[in-house]
Order: sequence, then structure tokens, then C-alpha cells
Amino acid sequence: MRRQAAVSDFDAVFSIYMDERVIPFLGYDPMPREEFGTVYAELIAGGNFFVHELDGVITGFYKINRYPGRARHVGYVGSFAVNPAFQGRGLATSMLKDAIADLHARGVKRVELIVESDNPVAIALYEKCGFEKEGTLRQFYKRASEAHYVDDYIMALLLE
Ligand SMILES: CC(C)(COP(=O)(O)OP(=O)(O)OC[C@H]1O[C@@H](n2cnc3c(N)ncnc32)[C@H](O)[C@@H]1OP(=O)(O)O)[C@@H](O)C(=O)NCCC(=O)NCCS
Repeated sequence: MRRQAAVSDFDAVFSIYMDERVIPFLGYDPMPREEFGTVYAELIAGGNFFVHELDGVITGFYKINRYPGRARHVGYVGSFAVNPAFQGRGLATSMLKDAIADLHARGVKRVELIVESDNPVAIALYEKCGFEKEGTLRQFYKRASEAHYVDDYIMALLLE
């Protein structure tokens, strides 16, 4: 089941976000719980951050949004992750399909996302769902734990 994330989902989201199998590929470096409070407040403020739930357990999350003005037909997906305990069961595929369907229902014709070039699992997921690599954002990403910068890819899917 998919629903908008609530304040009460903080602990579950924090625990998935900070998991060592997840955090290398999201937007922030590891941080204490209190600090994540600010990040979480921003995530849920727009009403566009969703969690998926199975028998009361949060199995994954993502945010969606769209650009304004002349790019209002363009939406994007971000902060996308599946709870490591539930990975490899097709959940990301169905979560991404839900996100795309939601954006499509809002009139979006182009869905964008950004993925690290060193995340082959996510790249395979996105390609499987029809996204195409459109370009490289050179040195877009830098983990505090690493000395080097990482290129990102911008990927997009055009909808009818
Ligand atoms: C990427 C992620 C969301 C995939 O979640 P998942 O629920 O395990 O994915 P699915 O089971 O739906 O698999 C979807 C596709 O991903 C790819 N994939 C999944 N696990 C994989 C693995 N261990 N090795 C290679 N490819 C894999 C495959 O293409 C798979 O399709 P297939 O099963 O038809 O081969 C999950 O690994 C995750 O949360 N990773 C950490 C955070 C992250 O990378 N987020 C993306 C930020 S851009």
C-alpha cells in the first residue's frame, strides 16, 4: 500500500535511509537522528514524499515532484529506496510504476531522475522501466567517506 509519508514514519524512514546498503545512493551523508529531523521535515512538507507499506512495515519510499511553468509537463522522482530487508522481490519495480502512474495522472509527459554512475542495480531498474540515459553530470556527487567525485547520469522516460 502506498501513502503519503507522515511525521510518525520518521523512525522507519531514518533507519532505511541510514542503512549502509542504501545511504551511498541517496542525497545526504550519514547524520545523527536529530539532524535528519530537518531533512525529513523538508521531505514531507510538500506532500510529495510517499512510503510503501506491507503489513505495517515500511518497505520503501520516494518523492515525486514537477517543474513549474513551461516545464510543468516534466516530473521527477528522487530519494528512491527499498528497505534492504525487502530488496530483490520486485518492490522497486512496482513502486516506480506507481510513481510514474501518479505523475502521468497529474499530466506529466516526461519523467526524470538522477542516478549515480556507480549504482548499476538502480540503473538496471530504471532501464528495465524504460528510462534512457540522456547525459552525464560530471562530478555531481561526493560522498564524505570518499576522496573522489562521482559522475551522475540524468535519465528520462517519455510518456504518451
Ligand atoms: C535500487 C533498489 C531501489 C532496487 O530495489 P529492489 O526492490 O531490490 O528492485 P527489484 O526487485 O524491483 O528489481 C528491479 C531490477 O533492479 C535490478 N536489480 C535488483 N537487484 C539487483 C542486483 N542485486 N544486481 C543487479 N541488478 C539488480 C534488476 O534489473 C531488477 O530487475 P529484474 O529482477 O527483472 O532483473 C534497491 O536496491 C535500493 O533501495 N538500493 C539502495 C538505494 C538506491 O540505490 N536508490 C536509487 C537511488 S537513484
